[in-house]
Amino acid sequence: MAARNHVKWKQVPGQIRSGEYVDSRIYSDENIFKKEMKTIFSKVWIPVCHESEISEPYRFRTTTIAGVPILVVRDSGGEIHALANTSERRPSGKIELEVGFKDMPDPLHCDVKFGGFVWVTLNENPPTIEDWVDGSFDCMEKSLNAEPLDVFHYHKAIIPCNYKLWHDTNSEFYHDYLHYHNRITGFNESYFARENKCFNNGHVNVGSFEVQYDNYDGFESREELSFPHLPTNHWEMIDMFPGINFNLRGSALRVDVMTPLSPDKVMIEFRGLGLKSDTDKERLIRQRHHNSIWGPFGRNLHEDLIAVSTQQGTMHDHAEPRRILHGRHENNTIHDEVGMRHFYDEWGRWVDLWPGDPSLTYTEGQSLELQKVA
Ligand SMILES: [Fe+2]
Repeated sequence: MAARNHVKWKQVPGQIRSGEYVDSRIYSDENIFKKEMKTIFSKVWIPVCHESEISEPYRFRTTTIAGVPILVVRDSGGEIHALANTSERRPSGKIELEVGFKDMPDPLHCDVKFGGFVWVTLNENPPTIEDWVDGSFDCMEKSLNAEPLDVFHYHKAIIPCNYKLWHDTNSEFYHDYLHYHNRITGFNESYFARENKCFNNGHVNVGSFEVQYDNYDGFESREELSFPHLPTNHWEMIDMFPGINFNLRGSALRVDVMTPLSPDKVMIEFRGLGLKSDTDKERLIRQRHHNSIWGPFGRNLHEDLIAVSTQQGTMHDHAEPRRILHGRHENNTIHDEVGMRHFYDEWGRWVDLWPGDPSLTYTEGQSLELQKVA
């Protein structure tokens, strides 16, 4: 099995099913990237911001989806709309009344759901947001919708890696051994029993467990400020296709939204959210809990950012392609790669490429796989 020389290195893994590995070219190829923008990012729902960021009439925020400039704005009646952005250059601000909504371009589909996130899609005939997320929000919907939320932390980073690598680091958990903090606070029996659950449209939940924060020197339990309906110190997670992450951990919600810029560059926006009803003191504690792990100088986030940048460095355009295995089966528990297989199967169907060999269409790859099984 081991690749001991170049001939073996290049061979298709014989004993492994073809849905259990991906070809590294899917992380670096320019044409595949263009196809992803057209067939995936132009069709899916993206939570472009949170309603608390545009809390008053005429406040707006700009962003892009699949390279298309978008403006999200609240009207005088308080309703939120999304439009193609033709002229606004500021990232956020307030629209001047006299310019207002004159000559407004056609609106885009927009919906405010799941804790007040503003979801937008370029798709002209999108599924409802409920159909799109399938059951993936069941694990935290009650917690997110119990009372209004508020963004207390925002930073963005442009990372030299393919956007799928950021999805991967949020999805697979065996790299947890990389994180000292997670090893100290997390590796108990309930951690190893966490279950991956797959939903339609490529979404995955990683089951909850209780984090032992006080095992880490200087850290404290998140009990006091637990989100509503969330058991004490629990950690729920949704990995959404094609790369949005909702991460509810004790006292703070973290949401990652990715904007792919090129095959080897992604902008990631990181938001931390608490309850709008927080007192100043509660807010400070919540921010400390969030930032001590997930802030730019926390105990976890930068380790993932370094890891994905390094991974991309080995898969650049001129590197020899290789296959990346997702063949681990452990009854869907935490280190089982079922979530990765689910994501890449969905990815293959949307771009019509076989993830294990992108020179084949999805159907061609699938029929090869069926022959192998027969
Ligand atoms: Fe990580």
